[in-house]
Amino acid sequence: MPNLTGKVAIVTGSTKGIGRAIAEQLHAAGASVVVSSRTAADVAAVAKRLGPRALGIACDVADPTACQSLVDQTVSRLGRVDILVNNAGFGIFKSIADLTIDEWRRQIDVNLGGVFYCSKAALPHLAATGDGFIINIGSLAGRNYFAGGTAYNASKAGLIGMTEAMMLDVRQQNVRVSVIMPGSVNTWFRGATQSSGRSWPLEADDVALAVVQMLDYPKGAHPSRIELRPSRPEKG
Ligand SMILES: NC(=O)c1ccc[n+]([C@@H]2O[C@H](COP(=O)([O-])OP(=O)(O)OC[C@H]3O[C@@H](n4cnc5c(N)ncnc54)[C@H](OP(=O)(O)O)[C@@H]3O)[C@@H](O)[C@H]2O)c1
Repeated sequence: MPNLTGKVAIVTGSTKGIGRAIAEQLHAAGASVVVSSRTAADVAAVAKRLGPRALGIACDVADPTACQSLVDQTVSRLGRVDILVNNAGFGIFKSIADLTIDEWRRQIDVNLGGVFYCSKAALPHLAATGDGFIINIGSLAGRNYFAGGTAYNASKAGLIGMTEAMMLDVRQQNVRVSVIMPGSVNTWFRGATQSSGRSWPLEADDVALAVVQMLDYPKGAHPSRIELRPSRPEKG
């Protein structure tokens, strides 16, 4: 595990599921962690449970002003931003015929817009550290497409392209930008519950481990993409 003492990490969508596991593991590695989601009460509760070095700031990542404020408040209270994990996201799974224009816009605005807004706000601070890292939580749905995936597949496929283009834009400024693409994970996603009894999916901690391992690489090496699959998925 890397020693992240003195580093400041923002994790969007970190009151549940994958984001919360990432916040916990970054905190355990010594980082100061900003916990965030749309729900202020959950943000406060998760930050409190993490303890010292955790700060809760509510933010809907589809709102550019809220993303800027998330970064500004982090810098004013913790002094810097070293790591941004763009995790907040959700899925709408509908055939194009049933997908409304509002649903399409919301899917793209959260899953892609949120990454853009938070990254744009954080980049000057990440570059100022001389060793910044943006980790985007994508999905294998970004390259394996399915019926009902018009909106979600588009958002996650777009995220792969966006990650690589951003990486090329900022690599000379000492900021690494990467994507982690998990398969199915046991979380609240799609309305599932962690007690749904399925044993084959990944656990949120498996994805968090990939984040922490990315951060363990020396500054001169850039693991830019991880595809993480359940070892033995249920036969479909
Ligand atoms: N679970 C899977 O099988 C799976 C597989 C591959 C990739 N992923 C990706 O992993 C990421 C996390 O998914 P998860 O499974 O951990 O989901 P989850 O259990 O539903 O948790 C989502 C978290 O994001 C927050 N959130 C949702 N919309 C938000 C918004 N607009 N702004 C800020 N925060 C928001 C939620 O809190 P509030 O609702 O209170 O805001 C919650 O903290 C997503 O990007 C998802 O696409 C998931």
